Amino acid sequence: MNLQEIDDLIRQAANKATKETNDEPEPGLTQDVVWPVDVKIGKGLEGAIATTTRIGYVNGAKGWLVYRGYNCFDLAEKSNFEETTYLLLFGKLPTTSELRNFKQKLVRYRSVPRKVFEVLKMVITPKTHPMSALETAVSVLGNLDEQANDTSAAGETEIAVKLIAQLATLAGAAARLHQGKSPLAPDPELSHAGNFLYMVTGKQPDEFSERIMDIALILHADHGMNASTFTTMVVNSSLSDMYSSVVAGIASLKGPLHGGANERVLYDLEEIGSAANVKTWFEKARETKRKVMGFGHRVYKAYDPRARIFGPIARLMAEKNPAIGGLYETAAELEKVVCGELGAEKKIFPNVDFYSGIIYKALGIETAMFTPIFAVSRIAGWTARALEYLADNRLFRPRAVYIGPIKAEYVPIEKR
Ligand code: SDX
Repeated sequence: MNLQEIDDLIRQAANKATKETNDEPEPGLTQDVVWPVDVKIGKGLEGAIATTTRIGYVNGAKGWLVYRGYNCFDLAEKSNFEETTYLLLFGKLPTTSELRNFKQKLVRYRSVPRKVFEVLKMVITPKTHPMSALETAVSVLGNLDEQANDTSAAGETEIAVKLIAQLATLAGAAARLHQGKSPLAPDPELSHAGNFLYMVTGKQPDEFSERIMDIALILHADHGMNASTFTTMVVNSSLSDMYSSVVAGIASLKGPLHGGANERVLYDLEEIGSAANVKTWFEKARETKRKVMGFGHRVYKAYDPRARIFGPIARLMAEKNPAIGGLYETAAELEKVVCGELGAEKKIFPNVDFYSGIIYKALGIETAMFTPIFAVSRIAGWTARALEYLADNRLFRPRAVYIGPIKAEYVPIEKR
């Protein structure tokens, strides 16, 4: 495998996306709003408009993902996680010196106080989910940072950059402790993606693995008002601190309906066992109304552009790595069967979580670590959007329709 093959594959995915969705309606939700906004809201705040933003845009009909105006295919092919993070946080692509300084700052911030590892060693057992460990670790970090409650824009921005650097170190430590090994110190010579891969696997990554991890981190970095980003913003809108807001974001991402799906996809593929079993398995899932992990999306009613890139990468890695070949074949057959039944009727296609786990497994990463990888990337979108909203903050506080009794009479306990 060489790096050119990856660039070609991303280009082909971009061309396919354009061809397949060119006749879809032009972008919606891109015109400015004058509050209050008149929208139709479904359960789960479907259709609700939380705020305006310049950070990123998801066009569900066309299957577009844009960060600050740059489409995800260009960023996956030409950028890197550090540059993409700078773009999300500061609104522009950095110059050479800006990127050099930002990378150096992230490297300086990679280290984590020893006390955090001591707490992690106390709480992590083979049964602890690494996402729970991440929640604990960030909470401890917040307790140890004397600046934690500086909720000024400058203060929260500094904490955001620190957390972007440190989440990779924390996830690496959680991975090693989960395997009963000692955490590894960050390697300042490696890129963010390369160092993260090293801290998780214990091996110096080859350039191909590093490139694949970098693409995964770029593509998971931001995605509109998804549940974990919205959670982070809701907490931050009360002027709580950035550490507490990120702990809440991690907790939300952990759920299998959201970031936890990538891990569940692997368990499903292993449960199915082979491509030949897919049809029977899917028919049973339909009968029992079981949601197929890695499929469907609240916003995408077209193919998730990230899956357009992850699918071919997973295929490329499966061709070179027989150990995951069977998994990929099962996944490809499952995509065919699910999309055949639910694609046209319910606009259900693979989402970001469907192929990503196969890629991580091929990189030698244990399944329990798949969702923490999502967090290591999405910390950029969580913090960028929390900071953007903070600049023109208003506490998030929706209403609920009360359908209970209004005038109940209090009955003393002896008469109940
Ligand atoms: C992520 O929001 C984001 O941007 C998230 C994310 C990001 O980058 O932050 O993109 C990352 O979370 C991706 C999604 C990962 N989750 C999964 O893969 C879990 C499986 N997917 C589903 O649970 C579901 O598709 C959701 C939760 C993702 C979206 O669900 P919705 O919008 O609430 O839709 P719904 O549950 O109301 O379903 C509508 C219909 C239902 O059928 P009917 O009851 O109308 O007959 O579609 C069906 C559902 O049964 N359906 C599915 C399905 N997803 C929806 N049927 C089978 N399998 C599925 N996966």
